[in-house]
Amino acid sequence: MASAKTRTAPDTPSLAPPPTGDWWDETQWSVLLSLLDAVLAPVVANGDARIEQQKVNKAAVADTLQFNRASFKRMPKAELDDAIARARNAVINPPGNNEIADYLADRASDNPKFLMGVRRTLSGVSAKDRADLGGLLTTLSGRAGALALTGYCTPVQKQPVHVREKILQNWSNSWIPLIRKVARSFQALAQTSWVMSSPMFRQISGFSDVPPNWKAGPSHEYEFLQFGKNGDTKGIETIETDVVIVGSGCGGAVAAKILATAGHRVVVVEKGYHYPQSQLPMPQNEGARLLFENNGVLASTDPGVSVLAGACWGGGGTINWSVSLRTPDQVRKEWAPKDQPGMSFITSPAFDASMDRVCDFMGVNNVIENTPSKAAEGVVAKVDDEQSHRGRVILDSAVKLGFKADTLLQNTSGGKPHDDGYCHLGCASAEKLGTSVSWLPSAAEAGAQFIEGFHVERVLFEGDDGTAVGAATKSIPHSTSASGPKAIGVVGTWLSRDNNGGVAGQGDERIKKRVIIKAKKVVVSGGSLWSPVVLKKSGLQNPQIGKNLHLHPCNFVSAFFDEETKPMDKGIITSICTSFEDLDGKYHGPRLESTCMVPYAIMANLPWNNSLDFKLAAMRYPHMDGFIALTRDRDSGRVFPDATTGQPIVDYQASPLDREHAVEGAIGIARLCHAAGANEIRAYIAHTKPFIRLAKGQGDSSKEDPLFEAWVKDVRAAALSSSLLWGGWNVATPFASAHQMGTCRMGDDGGKASVVNTKGQVWGTQGLYVADASVFPSASGVNPMVTTMAFADWIANGLAEELSAN
Ligand SMILES: Cc1cc2nc3c(=O)[nH]c(=O)nc-3n(C[C@H](O)[C@H](O)[C@H](O)COP(=O)(O)OP(=O)(O)OC[C@H]3O[C@@H](n4cnc5c(N)ncnc54)[C@H](O)[C@@H]3O)c2cc1C
Ligand SMILES: *[C@@H]1O[C@H](CO)[C@@H](O)[C@H](O)[C@H]1NC(C)=O
Ligand SMILES: *[C@@H]1O[C@H](CO)[C@@H](O)[C@H](O)[C@H]1NC(C)=O
Ligand SMILES: *[C@@H]1O[C@H](CO)[C@@H](O)[C@H](O)[C@H]1NC(C)=O
Ligand SMILES: *[C@@H]1O[C@H](CO)[C@@H](O)[C@H](O)[C@H]1NC(C)=O
Repeated sequence: MASAKTRTAPDTPSLAPPPTGDWWDETQWSVLLSLLDAVLAPVVANGDARIEQQKVNKAAVADTLQFNRASFKRMPKAELDDAIARARNAVINPPGNNEIADYLADRASDNPKFLMGVRRTLSGVSAKDRADLGGLLTTLSGRAGALALTGYCTPVQKQPVHVREKILQNWSNSWIPLIRKVARSFQALAQTSWVMSSPMFRQISGFSDVPPNWKAGPSHEYEFLQFGKNGDTKGIETIETDVVIVGSGCGGAVAAKILATAGHRVVVVEKGYHYPQSQLPMPQNEGARLLFENNGVLASTDPGVSVLAGACWGGGGTINWSVSLRTPDQVRKEWAPKDQPGMSFITSPAFDASMDRVCDFMGVNNVIENTPSKAAEGVVAKVDDEQSHRGRVILDSAVKLGFKADTLLQNTSGGKPHDDGYCHLGCASAEKLGTSVSWLPSAAEAGAQFIEGFHVERVLFEGDDGTAVGAATKSIPHSTSASGPKAIGVVGTWLSRDNNGGVAGQGDERIKKRVIIKAKKVVVSGGSLWSPVVLKKSGLQNPQIGKNLHLHPCNFVSAFFDEETKPMDKGIITSICTSFEDLDGKYHGPRLESTCMVPYAIMANLPWNNSLDFKLAAMRYPHMDGFIALTRDRDSGRVFPDATTGQPIVDYQASPLDREHAVEGAIGIARLCHAAGANEIRAYIAHTKPFIRLAKGQGDSSKEDPLFEAWVKDVRAAALSSSLLWGGWNVATPFASAHQMGTCRMGDDGGKASVVNTKGQVWGTQGLYVADASVFPSASGVNPMVTTMAFADWIANGLAEELSAN
């Protein structure tokens, strides 16, 4: 292994082998793969020599899926040539015709990495959903089932690929929500796994998993506690401390630093692992599995929302997109209602002080809040070297259209911008100060101890010695007092690293040990997905726990431009449009932001129509810009533990109001892109066609473009009309969320509609606190990192005082 100094690429950690997939039989797998292959059908012209080749696929799991003539979708040569010519015409440095032909003819399932990715992703699906899907696959493999669901007696896996593609298209339009949902899931699964694994995609698009001029910054040398000496895995080991903090994310890291600096003994436990700068950023596949919750994505039950959350040392701080915004005043007012006097700290200088402290510590210096919009003042927004192409689209077009927009440059401690499109997969430079780069190291300096790979099962209350495995057997009835059973620590399972210091080793190579951490105070900072689940598993009965889940659901829009957009250059989000942030007079609505262009993140949900269209769109990645309408949601969902696995389940459907807001946001983005001269715009809304500009140069923003207005009308109609079908809009139109909030809501209402009091203490208990984004009373509206840290600052300072007083 090269030393950190001489290395020119990150030292990517290995992944554990994927699950075998034995939850399904061979037939079920062949049906699934036959459909995934149809999403990405190999396309060739009639008479192409490849058709005659006897290419047998040995790598595939399902040997029944031999590559043969029926594996190709054949098209009239003139038609295919025309499509290729148009796609080549749309890129400045087009790949050669042969290269494109090879790319189009490629079959996804022939790449073992594609198959492994599919199995890894499916291992994150709940057992029940997997069983349901398995049942459907079996049905499709028989004649009667195939007839009912496809209109043909031929089992799906025996159909030629062009028929399978047609079946998927038909399913996308089915009047049965379940069928539409299944079609969407297959498309997203195929698209994600392919973008993550395909060498062909990298070749054709020029995307590289290794950033150009990669260089690792300095890493803090963490020392993590180890257990099970000499491989002893029996029994329970016990350690003792003043405060145990569950989770090392934005809430936990800040709490750790404050409590340790105040002189208390602190232990931070994190179920994920630490990856030093020399291993970052990771390639998409490794990054998704090792840095994120649930192998990369947690789908809501319906599955209308793809939920992303950090699950590694540093939590969401490690994979954040560097947007550091203060809590807006409107939201602070909402969070301090008159009938809850204790909440008034949020509108007081005390909360300003908390925000100042966390922003100062990180060197964050932002221009957006409380500054009049430059665009609104008619001043041409500052467009400088720090803007990405899509950042400029927002700023320049906002001026043309009279929208409000501002730059969103993140100041670093050194006063430099952070030009790194890869941070979603971990940041190599360590230029900016955050959870794993500064809060946790500062905590360590003050004596805090850390445990990685430690999954907390439950909080222990007096009388629970921690020996029973799983959830608490004794329940704690909901009580509105700030006293009650006393928390005395946590119990969980620790899984060591392997012999190579990695996390891929199996079996005996890794020590698994149950550990109890006894503490005077327990702080749960597992984030909004896990904190309520941990509380529930600890026996707490307050029905509010897990409710009030806000997600900032995001609708995507992508646009293609004549010029290269250099998607991975510059910061991920460098500007914002705020014209739509208050659509109901109560500060609900979307903020329009550029988004992360790591290919799997932007292409997982690219609306699918047919294989050729998708592959040619992916080829134009170097000309693509992605945006999100990040919607402050008025309405909410909930989180609860899966009865068998104990994993969080997300039950959330964007409400009609929030959906309408999101659609207006998506249309706002489309207008910005149109005014910037995009040659093609794709709204990630089911049943909408791309807007395609007919002529280069068309769309001078000073003139009305009736074709564009007609398209906007269609988008709105498609989005809103299909919402009339039960569950229709949600499942067909994907939302994503990187902001989970509110599931352990704070309140001064005696616990009527809250989980913690204004000190962060869990109602009806003693010694138990929550400090993370789950305490938000509702959605923050802005990206929540700073608000999360400010709450953690407030709660931890209060707790530090209380500990010192005793
Ligand atoms: C891709 C992405 C980009 C983002 N970019 C931004 C941005 O630019 N700006 C911004 O403001 N916000 C951003 N966010 C949101 C931000 O990261 C979160 O709002 C923030 O991290 C929330 O902090 P938290 O403490 O609530 O939870 P987290 O930071 O998620 O931390 C929770 C931690 O607890 C651990 N944990 C959970 N349960 C257990 C258990 N039982 N035992 C042990 N450990 C456990 C988890 O593994 C996790 O590491 C982004 C989020 C994502 C996913
Ligand atoms: C798709 O649906 C149309 C009618 O909506 C039908 O005519 C056609 O046969 C269907 N095709 C397949 C492959 O199911
Ligand atoms: C950035 O931070 C540095 C040091 O913290 C400060 O001197 C400088 O004024 C800041 N720049 C901006 C644009 O905020
Ligand atoms: C956010 O990510 C950047 C890298 O993009 C990192 O330097 C910074 O420390 C992170 N912020 C937090 C709060 O962890
Ligand atoms: C899908 O593609 C077909 C051509 O293959 C086209 O006629 C149709 O309009 C497209 N539909 C959408 C929603 O893009």
